[in-house]
Amino acid sequence: MPTEVSMQADIALWKSKDGLTDDERRMIKRNLGFFAASESLVANNVVLAIYRHLTNPECRQYLLRQAFEEAIHTHTFQYIVESLSLDEGELFNMYREVPSITDKAAWALKHTQSLDNPDFRTGTPGTDKAFLRDLVAFYVIFEGIWFYTGFAQILSLGRRNKMVGIAEQYQYILRDESIHLNFGIDVINQIKLENPHLWTGAFQDEVRGMIAEAAELEAAYGRDTMPLGFLGLNAALCEQYMHFIANRRCAQLGLSPVFAEAENPFPWMSEAMDLKKEKNFFETRVIEYQNGRALAWD
Ligand SMILES: [Fe+2]
Ligand SMILES: [Fe+2]
Repeated sequence: MPTEVSMQADIALWKSKDGLTDDERRMIKRNLGFFAASESLVANNVVLAIYRHLTNPECRQYLLRQAFEEAIHTHTFQYIVESLSLDEGELFNMYREVPSITDKAAWALKHTQSLDNPDFRTGTPGTDKAFLRDLVAFYVIFEGIWFYTGFAQILSLGRRNKMVGIAEQYQYILRDESIHLNFGIDVINQIKLENPHLWTGAFQDEVRGMIAEAAELEAAYGRDTMPLGFLGLNAALCEQYMHFIANRRCAQLGLSPVFAEAENPFPWMSEAMDLKKEKNFFETRVIEYQNGRALAWD
């Protein structure tokens, strides 16, 4: 649970006069503002929309687990905002006030319309395509592309020993989100396999167009959240990272890349993702351990 992560060092740093630059503070606030609104949007989508249309029982079991994790993520942002005594009105209203966040929210709403419509039913090629398009927007773009600049921003601070509590919270969230993304990709690829008539050349172009557009919106968000940049991170590097991530998502869906080949400017992100959260037994609560059944006996 988020409350098990100590926020003492973050609170001290946030209250200090010169521990953080103005650009770092702006980035942290806008990052939290984007995530706080997005996590609850994601939870609503899972429970109110996707669950209705994905009727496969194993998928539904997974969706319930995802919904639980999204609730913990929403709680995490509330906890961070309260710990740092941030202005809740400012933070939770950013999706209306900060243009690059508003643009992303508007894009997400436009591209998940079928999911939002209570009368929407799948079953015809047209509606099945609409559902598939919404799944791409939701899993691949929202959770799979846009969240990743946000993670890189905070984890890069954490690597410099700044806001280490938030960085630890984000590591747990990143671990969950990479599984949500993989689930979404598996679902989309399985629907493609069972319904090859939906995955036409024109539809593939449309999906590639959506991914390219989303990466551009994210680059604008990078410039908006970090106009000056700071050690190890700036808007240009984030844009390069988005191109790398967008191409990677295309490959996962079996599509050709949308951008020229880009090198991953943040190779440490994969370390953060793969990290096993086993902790020093004497220093923190143990949350992962093997039980007897997992051991092999000679
Ligand atoms: Fe989440
Ligand atoms: Fe998620």
